[in-house]
Amino acid sequence: MARRKKIYEGKAKTLFEGPEPGTLVQYFKDDATAFNAVKHEIIDGKGVINNRISEYFMVGLGQIGIPTHFIKRLNMREQLIKAVEIVPLEIIVRNFAAGTLSKRLNIKEGTALPRPIVEFSLKDDTLGDPLVPEEYIIAFNWASQQDLDDIVALALRVNDFISGVMYGAGIKVIDFKIEVGRIFDNDFQRLVVADEISPDSCRLWDLDTGRKLDKDVFRENLGNLRDAYTEVADRLGIMPKLSVGSTKPTLVK
Ligand code: TYD
Repeated sequence: MARRKKIYEGKAKTLFEGPEPGTLVQYFKDDATAFNAVKHEIIDGKGVINNRISEYFMVGLGQIGIPTHFIKRLNMREQLIKAVEIVPLEIIVRNFAAGTLSKRLNIKEGTALPRPIVEFSLKDDTLGDPLVPEEYIIAFNWASQQDLDDIVALALRVNDFISGVMYGAGIKVIDFKIEVGRIFDNDFQRLVVADEISPDSCRLWDLDTGRKLDKDVFRENLGNLRDAYTEVADRLGIMPKLSVGSTKPTLVK
């Protein structure tokens, strides 16, 4: 079979042309990057785990009525998605202080925030994804005020869902990032959750001990990243005990 045409290659995923117009194939790579790709390693099997975890959350969101770009998982590393026009923002939801919020305001990591905070970074690696206020977003026409109101409402629903599901697995959702895309139906625009929901784009701590189970394990050299992600998948009950390494092909249903 001829290889599909590559549309875009990102740090952790590649997008290929889909089998039908309006669809794309999203391929999960094993690349782990941090600090705007200054730190880069291949973590054998990471893409397989993230494909599954993201599928799990996208399907769940769809089932509770939150639209996403997800259509179906195709194989170990690929999913079929709807082509969307990506809103050029990283939408960050925070429940507890960590990362740049802790640094910027000198708040101890893990401190509960008085309410969930939704903030926006501009999706631009050359600028290092700077935090942008709503004023900028509207002035530069990256999204309208109505879009932003809809995006905040969407992000908070996603937060409640992910936090609730993770709580059931003994995991606390400190913060996470989503991306949102536009789907056009004639003149009507719909905003849907796009990209991925995985431990690459969330901060996840063990509920009891605070042990980190997300990309901070890689950022801060805390141990084996694949083991941490596998533990998240296991606790959610979504991965059969499988070999995610690349030594032998394994049939996954
Ligand atoms: P944040 O604390 O702003 O940045 P950093 O991860 O550099 O300390 O990140 C908040 C959450 O959003 C965290 O779970 C990581 C995620 N995130 C991404 O996945 N990609 C991004 O480009 C950004 C800015 C954040």
